[in-house]
Parts: sequence; structure tokens; C-alpha cells
Amino acid sequence: MPIETNFDIEFTARLALREKQVQQNYRPIIAVHKWFARRPGTLFRSLILAEFIDKPVEQTYYNSHNLEGLIIADPFMGGGTPLIEANRLGCNVIGTDINPMATWIVQEEIAEIDLTAYMQTADYLLAHLSNEIGELYKTRCPITGRKNADVKYFLWVKTKVCTACHQSFDLFPGYVLARDVRHPTYVLICPACGDLNEVADLKHPGFCTCGKNLTAKGPVQRSQCPCPHCGHINKATSHDNGPPSHRLFAIEYYNSDIKGQSGRLFKKPDADDLARVEKARDEWFSLSPSYLPEDDIPAGDETNRLHRWGYKLFNQLFNPRQLLALETVAGFIDQIQDHRLRRAFATNFSDLLRYQNLLCRYDTMALKSLDIFSVHGFPVGYIQVESNFLGIRKDNGLPVGSGGWVNIIEKYTKAKHYCTAPFEVYFKGKKKRTVLIDGEWIGVHPPQKSQTHARVLDLRCGSATTLNLPKHSLDAVFTDPPYYGMVQYGELMHFCYVWLRKLMGHDFPGLDLKTTLHRDELTGNDTAERGIVHFAEGLAEVYSRMAVALKPSAPLVFTYHHNRQEAYLAVAMAILDAGLTCSASLPCPAEMSGSIHIHGTGSSIVDTVFVCRNRGITPCSKPFKDATDLAQIIHHELVELVAAGMRPTAGDIRCIAFGHLTRMTIWNLHSDWNTSQPTSRKLELIQVMMDEVSTIKDVEAALELLNQTRLALNPNLFVVPNT
Ligand SMILES: C[S@@+](CC[C@H](N)C(=O)[O-])C[C@H]1O[C@@H](n2cnc3c(N)ncnc32)[C@H](O)[C@@H]1O
Repeated sequence: MPIETNFDIEFTARLALREKQVQQNYRPIIAVHKWFARRPGTLFRSLILAEFIDKPVEQTYYNSHNLEGLIIADPFMGGGTPLIEANRLGCNVIGTDINPMATWIVQEEIAEIDLTAYMQTADYLLAHLSNEIGELYKTRCPITGRKNADVKYFLWVKTKVCTACHQSFDLFPGYVLARDVRHPTYVLICPACGDLNEVADLKHPGFCTCGKNLTAKGPVQRSQCPCPHCGHINKATSHDNGPPSHRLFAIEYYNSDIKGQSGRLFKKPDADDLARVEKARDEWFSLSPSYLPEDDIPAGDETNRLHRWGYKLFNQLFNPRQLLALETVAGFIDQIQDHRLRRAFATNFSDLLRYQNLLCRYDTMALKSLDIFSVHGFPVGYIQVESNFLGIRKDNGLPVGSGGWVNIIEKYTKAKHYCTAPFEVYFKGKKKRTVLIDGEWIGVHPPQKSQTHARVLDLRCGSATTLNLPKHSLDAVFTDPPYYGMVQYGELMHFCYVWLRKLMGHDFPGLDLKTTLHRDELTGNDTAERGIVHFAEGLAEVYSRMAVALKPSAPLVFTYHHNRQEAYLAVAMAILDAGLTCSASLPCPAEMSGSIHIHGTGSSIVDTVFVCRNRGITPCSKPFKDATDLAQIIHHELVELVAAGMRPTAGDIRCIAFGHLTRMTIWNLHSDWNTSQPTSRKLELIQVMMDEVSTIKDVEAALELLNQTRLALNPNLFVVPNT
């Protein structure tokens, strides 16, 4: 039982925590294209090594390995984390995903590319954009008078026509453009004249040069806004006549002539800036675009918000300058003759879209653009940001700002370089060291030796509920299934897919499906009427197929977290139906605590890693009979997580507890499990058994008691937070 004995919670948690702070520094490959909620690569490397190298993982982690000949599958590959780790360790891999974007992305991540040719084409692309549309991203610096300073961000505010007096007005929820974190002062927009004012004290903001009082608070409150012309209270979000309109109100720019400037450069747009907006609009409307997708935004749990704001088509989420720029670059990519390079730039194009749309928000603290997927939804703000399409380089070549081609090319180049020279990061004291893991590589052939050592890379697009693999062919399944309704993959990725498909053509391999939405997606979704039964049955079908394909005693290992019991009932049913038992449930941090989609949601950052094996041969490890027993197990794990640098929250502890309760419930039910019962009955039986083992409330109480007893003995101990 290698994972069960070789895996080290503290060691892996430390790696995973660090990785999730800036995942691209640990696994640059993820920058090839956005995927949602990627688990840490370091976690899957640890798991694979723990399973196949019979030593404690800490002793093997930084060595080079070649697990040639092993076959690993991931039925829910998404952005490919487990598969890429397995491929890098020398395994043959089989992956599937129902979402065509996932298959496209993993293929693109692993496929070799001639980086010199890529970078040369990237230079041509940037030169082409500079010629065609570069002028549209320039501005006059009011400080030095330089006429061709680079715009980093254009800032737009939503506007509304008053339903009473029919005059237009701005929908400012607040007037703070920048906070005094990365900028020496606050920057406040004047409500009367729109001038930008540097303000030291937000409580006493003073007056604008126009004489008007400055204030941080904007007129939009609780989705309502009084019209400044007639006082009529308007509903801010209702847009019955199409998508909302916007007004350019500020610019953040870069001027390389200004040296040693602390903070950023902001300006109110001048007449030339507004003329550029008009020029872009005129040019766009004079075109007959070839690459503009006309697809509707279908109804969905996430997309319904867009409908409420009046957006009906995906192409309405962009302003004319963005559409013109996308059309220009798409035309260039379409002309690239080399198939591999065209695919790479199309992938870049698709990833760039998340920064080049009018749903991006401006982070007034970090002073940067938050891309459309910075949360797992389509939040619509009142202030939106448009990034420089080309991107900006400083004199030393390093990029400034985010969201442009320069940034995308830089990230992609690093990602592909990492494939040929993967590394690991470790800390000696506080010093960060990067170690090249010589001999490891990601791909089908070793770098520069295209004829030798082919590793199997079998990527499929389709529902894993229909995936047929030969019996006893797999050495392991490592996966990361959907977490019930947490992320709507199909709805979200549709945003990129419509553009990619239009650019490459629907007959291009992998782009034949019309949409990324699929009724068999294993997510809860109210709009599509997919509930827990759909999720439980689908997961059970997939795990049953995997169990047949696994060699005897080979593991099915997956990460999971949710804060509702219902979601674990489905997991337990899937494992039981597959004829497996759960030999371990291990905690590991898998999200970043400050991450925007986690922050303030009460969600947990800890995943449970479920290790499942064939029922007949798996001994029961770490059994427990009640809440008091379980509290001891959880406490030991919390001590390890704390030693790794984590501060577990009540939500984390809840998820860890649910993991163990699920494991023990499976154990108690497996010998008499009848797979032919109706799903509702199975879920009911599992719930009754889980509650019999212990309720979450009892576990929390037992942990509290344990805490108090231990604290009485040693007041310096780590205290489990109150739930
Ligand atoms: C949690 S994500 C996997 C993330 C991935 N491990 C990564 O590193 O990016 C779950 C994936 O399951 C996929 N999925 C959902 N239903 C599926 C089904 N019926 N068959 C195959 N894949 C499915 C989703 O499209 C999503 O990519």
C-alpha cells in the first residue's frame, strides 16, 4: 500500500502551499491556457512517486525518475495536472474530458514546439499589430509632453440613460481609482468634472480644482442610482435595450522617459484619446469581419447574469477597439502556414481573450486588470478595464502591465521551455532554490530526439461515462473530478471556444463540437436541471469503468473538497458502486487562501485525497469508531498541516472531517453493498451510515474538547479554530 505509507502530509502540504501562492513559478506549463481550479502539480508528483517508488516521498521528490511502461489514466483531465506530472515521470497517459477546450489545452501543453520558430513568428505578430493598430494604444503624457506614451489600461464606467429624463449618466459605485498601496496616494475621480485627484487622506479628501467636494462614495448603491440630472432613482442593472454602454473616464499609462517614479501614471482622457476611441469604432464598423463569432450566450447558472445585464451574444462582451484588435490578430494567425505554430498562436489568442473583453475589472489595490476568469463566473462590474492589446516592454525587455500579447508570448515561451527543462523549487531556510530535474521532460519524445523513446499520449474528448479501457490495463488512475456544482466548466470555457472555433474552423481536429456545453457534464447545474442524482450516477459510472480497467490492487486516487455533506454522499456512492474501498483520505492544501474566488466565501482550501483500491485486497487503515476517535486523527493531521505553514480554518477542518467520514462510511457499507438499488436509496443509506459514524457537529465538539485538554497541558500548542 505505497501511497498509504510513503505519502507525507507535511512535506507535500509545504510544497503545495508554496506552489499555490504563485503557481506559474512552480509549474509554468499552466500558463499555456487558463483552466479552472488547477490542483498543485507538486501534490500529484508526490502521489505518483509515493505509489511507484517504494521510499518515503521526501527522499525521492527531488530526484529524476523514469517510470517508463506504466499506464496512468485521468478521466477528468481538465487542464491536465495529473497527466502532465505522470507524463513527465515517464508514464504513458490516457486522458479524457467532456470539454473540447480541455483536450485542446492538454494537447497544446504537452506537444513539442520549435521555440525559435515560435519566437520569430511572435516578433512578426507584434510588428504587424504595431503597424496596424499600435497607434490606438498610445497617449500623450501630460507630464513630459511625450506623444507616444503607452497606454497600460483604459478605464471605462458603465453609463445609463435615465428612464425619466432620458439623459445619460455614469454608474460609479465609488470614486476611488487607486488606493495608497502601490501608489503613494489615493486617486479620486471628481464627480463633477472627472479630473483625477491625488488625495492623501480618504476621510478628508478635500476639493477638486473645479471646486467640487471630492468623495470616495459613488452614487450607485444596492444596484440603484439617482439620475444626477433629474433625481429619478434608476435601477442600475436593467438594460432592456441590449448590453450596457460605457464611457472612457481614465487611463493608466507608461512613459519610459520618467525614471524613478513611485506609483503609477494616471490621466483623464484628452481629446486625442477620445478621438482614438472613435477611430477604432469607425474602423471596426467599416469592416466585414471574418473571425467574429456570432454565437448566442446560452442560459446557464453563470451566464444568466450576463443575460440580466442585456448581453445576448458572446461578441457583445467586447468594445469596438477590442473587436478590431482581435480581428487583426486573427487574420495574422490564420495566415501562419506551419500547422503547429498556427495552433500555438490560436491557443494564445484564445487565452488572451480573458484579458481583452469588457468584463475585466480593475484592482484598485494591485493596480492591474482582473481577467474575466479571476472568479469562476461572469461577474459584471460598473468599472471595466481594457488592457493594451499589444502589451508593453520596458527598455530592459521585461513586460509592463498585463493582458497583452507581450505577456501571453512571454508566459507561453516559459511554459514550453519548462517542458524541456522541468524543475522543482525548494527552500533552504528562507532562500529559494530551483533545481533542474535532469533527465525528466514533458512530451512524447525527449527534447531534440524526435525518433526515440515515444511515450504514449492518448487524449480524448468525450464523456468519461462512456470511456472503455481494456480490463486490467492501468497501473493507476490519478484524477480530479468536478466538485459537484463548484465550477461550471462548460459555461465558462464556451466564452473562449466560440472564438477559437471561428478562427480555426469547425472542421479543424478537436473543434467539431458546436459548443462546450454538454448535458453529461458531471456538475450540478440548476438551469440544466442537473442535481445530485446526475452527479452521483455519472461519477459512479466513471469510477466503475476505471475499476475494471485497473490492475488488481492498483489505486484510483482523486482530490475532492466541498463543504456540503450531499456532495460527499455522491463520492461514497461512486466508490462503493465501483467495488472499491477507500484505503486513505489525506488532507492537502490545494487552493490559495487569498485567491479571489475563495476569499470570503467560507470555502476551504484543503482537498481530501481519496485513495481507493480493490475491495478484496485492501486493509482498513486508520479506522475509527466515533467522533472522539476521529478528532484524534484529524488533530494529528492538523498538526502536520500547521507545521507545513498552513493555518487551517473551520471550513478546512470540516472538509477534512467529511473526507474521513466518507472513508469510514464506505468501509462500513462495502461488504453488503447492493449496486442495483435506486440512487436515491443508496444516497439515503450512505447518509444514515455517515451520521451513525458521526455528525460534523460531534466531530467539531470532540475537537474542541481535545483542544481544551491539550491546551490545559501545554498552552503554547496550536489551537484548532472554533467552528
Ligand atoms: C476539477 S476539473 C479537472 C481539473 C484538472 N485536474 C486540472 O488540473 O486542470 C474536472 C474536469 O472534469 C470534466 N468533466 C465534467 N464532466 C465530465 C464527463 N462526463 N466526462 C469527462 N470529463 C468531465 C470537466 O470538464 C473538468 O475539466
